[in-house]
Amino acid sequence: MQTYLVGGAVRDKLLDYPVYDRDWVVVGATPEQMLKQGFRPVGKDFPVFIHPDSGEEYALARTERKSGKGYTGFLYHASPDVTLEEDLIRRDLTINAMAMTDDGTIIDPYHGQQDLQLKLLRHVSPAFSEDPLRVLRVARFLARYASLGFRIAPETLTLMQQLSHSDELGHLSTERVWQEFQRALGEASPQQFLITLMQTDALVKLFPELIPAMSDPQTLVAISQPIDSRVRFAILLRGALLNTPLEQRGQTIKTFCDQHRAPNAYRDLALQFCLQSDQLCHYSQLDAGERLALIRNLDLLRRDEHLSLLLQGCAVICNNTDAVEQQLPLLLEALRQIDPKALMSQGFKGKALGEAIYRAQLAVCQQQIDGVLSCNNPSH
Ligand code: CTP
Repeated sequence: MQTYLVGGAVRDKLLDYPVYDRDWVVVGATPEQMLKQGFRPVGKDFPVFIHPDSGEEYALARTERKSGKGYTGFLYHASPDVTLEEDLIRRDLTINAMAMTDDGTIIDPYHGQQDLQLKLLRHVSPAFSEDPLRVLRVARFLARYASLGFRIAPETLTLMQQLSHSDELGHLSTERVWQEFQRALGEASPQQFLITLMQTDALVKLFPELIPAMSDPQTLVAISQPIDSRVRFAILLRGALLNTPLEQRGQTIKTFCDQHRAPNAYRDLALQFCLQSDQLCHYSQLDAGERLALIRNLDLLRRDEHLSLLLQGCAVICNNTDAVEQQLPLLLEALRQIDPKALMSQGFKGKALGEAIYRAQLAVCQQQIDGVLSCNNPSH
């Protein structure tokens, strides 16, 4: 029995990138032998096991053949006579199809090291086309490595186009598509993910709503900045909806997020940002009532974590961000000092209390405009 480190871990080691996930392939073993050694099986008929101590995945060397649509229906053949080369040839890219032995020797039958040097994302074999998820994966790898000068090999791009033009993409599960999209949003150059999907005609099938954003250079530059994925998502949707009337944007975002099963953290920020970004960017021109309405619409008095994300978004789409970056936190701090109990002790209650709080808040907003706002000394 021989064990090899494979896939992304070998690739990232050679690129000098940090390795987070290690996958192993075991050649010459049976499931029974794995169980005997204390490995836990991942699924019933799936030849992958979890190491009892490290929790890492050990897969029996296997060949596979596709029997269904999308990411489903693979027929596996895992047996002790499947070789390492047979296992590696079914993988997506040559740079993902290398193995490493315990003593650090690289086994590289499909020239992954050469493609690392050439900075090429190139498929290993025609079996690439058996898995439509790979269109998204390759686009995501480009988003990760484009800043190093990587590009997609033309022959691989052609296969990706063919996959997009078949009905295969439509059979991918919503979860997998979102997972790849979310991961791409966290890569160094997420715009490359979208550009690649556009080039291969996958964008129109998977995310048609985002197509308008692709012709807005400001949006593409903004999402390439080193900011949180959720902020990138919000900026992207804002860019996609620039020509949609303001009153329709909320519903469009909700529908998009429902369809793609975007988590609430993405959905909420996108909704707030798309509906309020104009006001945020023109913060210094807002009067006291508008400033208060903005804070209330953004729910900032209750949701602390959104402030820094919204400010990140403003920093990349507003021309003059000083006003909002410096003044909005100051105003929030001052508004939080307003103490309803103090107003209650002055005899305010019920509706009158609500009105008194509102007037105090408005006064604080006005103080900021008048230049007399100091964080620890709001007058109310
Ligand atoms: N793989 C593949 N086709 C897929 C998914 C995975 O060929 N659709 C192979 C590749 O060899 C890949 C390995 O399985 O390197 C491990 O997959 P995964 O952990 O999803 O990706 P990584 O390559 O490790 O990349 P990442 O750094 O994004 O986790």
